[in-house]
Amino acid sequence: MRPAASHGDQEIIDVLTGTAGAVGIDTSGWAVLTGAGMSTDSGVPDYRGPDAVPRQPMTIQTFLSHPDQRARYWARSWVGWPRMRSAQPNAGHLGLAQLPVAGIVTQNVDGLHQAAASEMGSESPVIDLHGSLDRVICLSQGHIFDRDWVQARLSELNPDFARLVGIDPIDVETAPDGDVELEETQNFVVVDCPRCGGILKPDVVYFGDSVPPSRLQEANRICQEARGIVVLGSSLAVLSGLRFVRAAAKESKPVVIVTDGPTRGDELADYRSISRVADFVADWALRGIQGGDDRLTL
Ligand SMILES: NC(=O)c1ccc[n+]([C@@H]2O[C@H](COP(=O)([O-])OP(=O)(O)OC[C@H]3O[C@@H](n4cnc5c(N)ncnc54)[C@H](O)[C@@H]3O)[C@@H](O)[C@H]2O)c1
Ligand SMILES: [Zn+2]
Repeated sequence: MRPAASHGDQEIIDVLTGTAGAVGIDTSGWAVLTGAGMSTDSGVPDYRGPDAVPRQPMTIQTFLSHPDQRARYWARSWVGWPRMRSAQPNAGHLGLAQLPVAGIVTQNVDGLHQAAASEMGSESPVIDLHGSLDRVICLSQGHIFDRDWVQARLSELNPDFARLVGIDPIDVETAPDGDVELEETQNFVVVDCPRCGGILKPDVVYFGDSVPPSRLQEANRICQEARGIVVLGSSLAVLSGLRFVRAAAKESKPVVIVTDGPTRGDELADYRSISRVADFVADWALRGIQGGDDRLTL
């Protein structure tokens, strides 16, 4: 079911850019909370959009206690990584990186906000609340490895795997968290930590796991100091995102939600748009960048 918009986009953008009649308000201090809908235009599927395929997400408990499930996860993730790695920021990421926001708190694990920020030279902080797929962490001692290194190691250890299961790694349907649907995974050899032998896991927060306290603190600080919160492309089904919206509403700060499907925060929204994220951000960026639109490159 499609929710209803509360205002037209231009009216909402008037509020975001401080042109809605308010005088003396800092127009730049919005906290932005993003979700999977931010990256669908980059070819990374979401979980709960209209085209999303229902699937069982990996929980941390399953990952830790079932070696066969761990092998399955890594096999699918090994196949899906080349496509995830090649995803590029879309107009939404690039437009947002040009806006002087207080900070971006993202639930995404695809690194596309960071890619857009380095392309645009943005200095707004980006907090990846749920981690990032381009890092791998050792669960014994916290050693961190580059995902590309682990990928290469997995390829060495499983030289015949792709041929055996009859797939071409770049040519498969990638699921939201970067793994793919794959049946025969029991023979896949996983990599352990080369420094201590611990279990390796992509450095992302699984269902049933919690956000590391330092990251949560930083996200809280950004949202507390912000003048309001703008949600872009998230169903807010996950409590770790919804809590920022609840906190803003509790402090009577404006809540803006731009997402084309229903969200768990809809009742808290002061301004609700059902537009595509990239379209909305492009309009916001056109008006939000001081000095006019000549500095905007999308
Ligand atoms: N890109 C990624 O890194 C990625 C992708 C899928 C899931 N995840 C993880 O899974 C969880 C998913 O929760 P979530 O709330 O982020 O996503 P979600 O899939 O629950 O919700 C996405 C929402 O965005 C809407 N949407 C999709 N494309 C849109 C567009 N272009 N414009 C406007 N709206 C659009 C959908 O209709 C849906 O309502 C997150 O915690 C995240 O860590 C990450
Ligand atoms: Zn280790």
